[in-house]
Amino acid sequence: MKEKEKAKKSQDMINPVSILGIDIGGSGIKGALVDTVKGELVSDRYRIATPQPATPEKIGYTVKELVDKLNYHGPLGIGFPARVINGLVNSASNIDKSWINTQADQLFTNICGEKCYIVNDADAAGIAEQRFGAANNQQGVVMLITVGTGLGSALFIDGKLVPNTELGHLRMMGNKAEAYASDAARTLDNLSWPEWGARFNEYLLYLEFLFTPGLFIIGGGISKKIDNFKKHLTVKADVVPAKLQNQAGIIGGALWAIDRYKATKIQ
Ligand code: BGC
Repeated sequence: MKEKEKAKKSQDMINPVSILGIDIGGSGIKGALVDTVKGELVSDRYRIATPQPATPEKIGYTVKELVDKLNYHGPLGIGFPARVINGLVNSASNIDKSWINTQADQLFTNICGEKCYIVNDADAAGIAEQRFGAANNQQGVVMLITVGTGLGSALFIDGKLVPNTELGHLRMMGNKAEAYASDAARTLDNLSWPEWGARFNEYLLYLEFLFTPGLFIIGGGISKKIDNFKKHLTVKADVVPAKLQNQAGIIGGALWAIDRYKATKIQ
């Protein structure tokens, strides 16, 4: 059989309606099987607390636990809270510093025994919203902001992702924006919703000044609570919650995996 036919055959064996997506966050690691054709979860969603210190080994074995729990075999996609370029992690804000310069795709693949593809977690959520959620069919500049332990960003121009924008690291009040306006900052500084809403509004105004998006999509756990702070937002752009809510990261991870898997198999 010719190489191309062989590759096509092995690609056909991968079931696109059951791809494992994993979302690694500062406080929890979540995973589920995803129908990548419909953009829906097709299994229970499991969550394991992020081990501390969040070192490569510890996170690697936590991901393996999810793979085993779901008895999964096949390519899997992992949304990771750092800048990721071709599987290489080169920043570490809310994870252990030993991640810097780790070839994360190899590390996870070695530990899990399955092919792992890695993408920035906010980019993963953005990809899912772009294909199946609030950004679907949106032209122009669209920005997704995930609000959790950090602030994550995904920037789209006419549906095309500009990866690794890391806009939670913009400077605000002499520090990283995420130290001022993330959900962790809300809890840490014991802020009421109006107080935190005012801070988050400052952050969105800053982003609007820089990029003039037509639409902001708010992701992460806070997307369910948007009614608590939307009235404090004065940006001109529309602001909507992520349609896939906090499943966007898992779904986007799985989409990243199936897309990369297919791209490397047919060449
Ligand atoms: C990280 C980003 C990530 C965001 C949300 C930030 O601290 O630098 O890569 O997207 O947190 O998890």
